[in-house]
Amino acid sequence: MIIAIDGPAAAGKGTIAVKLARHYGLNHLDTGLLYRAIGRLMADQGLDLDDPVAAGAVARALKPADLQNAELRGREAGELASRVAVHADVRAALVDFQRDFARTPPGAVLDGRDIGTAICPDADVKIFVTASPEVRARRRTDELNAKGRDVPYERILAEILERDERDSHRSAAPLRQADDAVRLDTTALDAEAAFAAAIAIVEAGHD
Ligand code: CDP
Repeated sequence: MIIAIDGPAAAGKGTIAVKLARHYGLNHLDTGLLYRAIGRLMADQGLDLDDPVAAGAVARALKPADLQNAELRGREAGELASRVAVHADVRAALVDFQRDFARTPPGAVLDGRDIGTAICPDADVKIFVTASPEVRARRRTDELNAKGRDVPYERILAEILERDERDSHRSAAPLRQADDAVRLDTTALDAEAAFAAAIAIVEAGHD
């Protein structure tokens, strides 16, 4: 079984994806990590993130070891990721790896922005996880505060809105709900309730 989970930043897709994978005994790929690693490598090498040729070369040379960096989960890497993710060459370089991962038995849950639309258009189940920008910003702010990082809510909200805008309006595989995806709005749901709703979608959506 292949489950595609897409949606904007901090909507809860990562948490849902991890729990679904555990529940169904599937592999899990956080595809955002690939773009984060490319952004980080380019920044570390002093390369221009807006240069599609340089970005494509870094994407084609990406190695599994490049993903083993705790810093990739942070805010800065998210911003770098969104900038390199606009390049068609970067996206193309990552397609085969993601499809091979999805097809490897026993199947997988992949979360990202274009899984249901571009990477796995034939996924057994597609879920588009969303929530209001204000609730997403509140969650991110609380997460950061819990780690002792005091970042103002307004700043996080502005970053989320900027990232939504860039991800939704790029020409290469923009963030959008696939026609056959089920929308899961987590604005009023906690993590447990969102997971229960996701299970119900999977159970209804595959045979
Ligand atoms: O957890 P969060 O949603 O903040 O970040 P992420 O899923 O790691 O994605 C970081 C950035 O990578 C996004 O803002 C997208 O620009 C890009 N991305 C993408 O374009 N396609 C994917 N399949 C996954 C991430």
